[in-house]
Amino acid sequence: MARSVLALFLVACVAPLTFAWPYGEQPVRGVNLGGWLVLEKWMTPNVFSGLPDNVNDEYKLTQHLGYAEAEKRLRSHWDTWVTEADIIKFKNAGLNHATGLLTLRTANHGFPEVGTMPSRLQAGAGPHGLQVMMDLHGAPGSQNGNDHSGQSGSIGFYYNDENLQRSVNVVRQIARWANASEWRNTVSIIQTLNEPILWDDYDYRLGRLKDYYGMAYHAVREVNDLAVVAVHDAFIDLTNWYYFRDDPQYWWVMLDTHLYQVFGDEYQGLTCEQHAALACRYRDRLGDANSKLWTVVGEWSLATPHSCNNQGDIARQQIGVYENSGSGYFFWSHNNGQNWAEWSMKHSLDNGWIRPSENNVAYC
Ligand SMILES: *[C@@H]1O[C@H](CO)[C@@H](O)[C@H](O)[C@H]1NC(C)=O
Repeated sequence: MARSVLALFLVACVAPLTFAWPYGEQPVRGVNLGGWLVLEKWMTPNVFSGLPDNVNDEYKLTQHLGYAEAEKRLRSHWDTWVTEADIIKFKNAGLNHATGLLTLRTANHGFPEVGTMPSRLQAGAGPHGLQVMMDLHGAPGSQNGNDHSGQSGSIGFYYNDENLQRSVNVVRQIARWANASEWRNTVSIIQTLNEPILWDDYDYRLGRLKDYYGMAYHAVREVNDLAVVAVHDAFIDLTNWYYFRDDPQYWWVMLDTHLYQVFGDEYQGLTCEQHAALACRYRDRLGDANSKLWTVVGEWSLATPHSCNNQGDIARQQIGVYENSGSGYFFWSHNNGQNWAEWSMKHSLDNGWIRPSENNVAYC
C-alpha cells in the first residue's frame, strides 16, 4: 500500500489520477484467449482440417486458401472458439481480465480487422465486467519466428523500419479506438508486442526493440490517457526494463514475463513436487520487478514434461507467487482444442485445479 501511494505521488505530475483498474492493489486474475485471433495449430487443429501438413500457421492458411476463403474459415472459428458463455464462466469463477491477441492480418489489412476484432472481445467482456488487455502478437516480419506471431519461420521484424512503423500504427489505432469507445474503462492494458526474441543477434535486436517500445508507448499516449502500456521482457533479465519506471517520460507501464515449466531441458527431470515448488524460484525477482513496475506473469500453464497428478498444488503455488510477489497473472489459455486440460482454464476450473477466488498461498 505504502509503495503504491509513493508511486502515485511520483507519477502525479504527469499521469492523470483516474484509474481504469487498481493495478498493484488488486491482483490481475486473467486468462488469455489463445488461438482465437491468432491461430496456433496445436491449439485448434480443426481449423486446419483437410489442409496439407505444411500449412501450419495463419499466414500459410491464408496463402493456401486465398484471403476470402481463409476469412470464411476464420470467421466461423472466431464465432465459436470464444463464446459469451465462456466469458460468463470466467467471470463467475473469479477471473477479472481477459486478453485478446492482435494478428498479423490486422497489421497487413488495416483498420477493419483492428476495429471488428476488439469490439467482438469488448462486446463480450465489457458487459460482463472483465477487463481487457489487447496484445500485438502478430507483428509484420515476425518478432519471434513462431506460429503465434501469425507467421512461423524467420525473424524479420527488427530488420525493416516499415515493420516497426506498421506495428506502431496498429498499436496507435487500437489505443485510439479504445479511448473513444464506450468501453474505454474496459480496455485497460495495451501490450505493444508479444514475446520478441533477441538471441542470435542480441545487441542489434535489443536496440531496435527499445526503439520500438519507445515509439509504441508514445503512440498510445498520444491518443489514450487511461490504458496501462505493457511491455514483454523479451526473455531477458527483468532489470533491463526498469528504465520504464526510472525515466519520467514513461508512466503506467506494466512488465510482462512468461513462466512455463515445460519448455527446456531444465524441466525434464523434475518430480511433480519439484514442479509445485518451482514457482518459489521466481518469488524474489518478481517481487523486485514489481516494486519498480507492475509485473504480471502474462503466460503460464500447468503443463509439465511428464504428467503429474498434483495440478492443484502446481496451480496454487504459481498463483500464490504471481499474486503476492507480482501484480497477478494471465493463464495460457482459455481452452485447448485437443482437450489438454493443463493448457485449458475451462478444464482447470472444472477439475478444481485453479480456484481464482480462493486465497492461493504459496508454500516456499
Ligand atoms: C481520450 O478520451 C477521453 C474521454 O473521452 C478524452 O477526454 C481524451 O481527450 C481522449 N484523448 C486522450 C489523449 O486521452
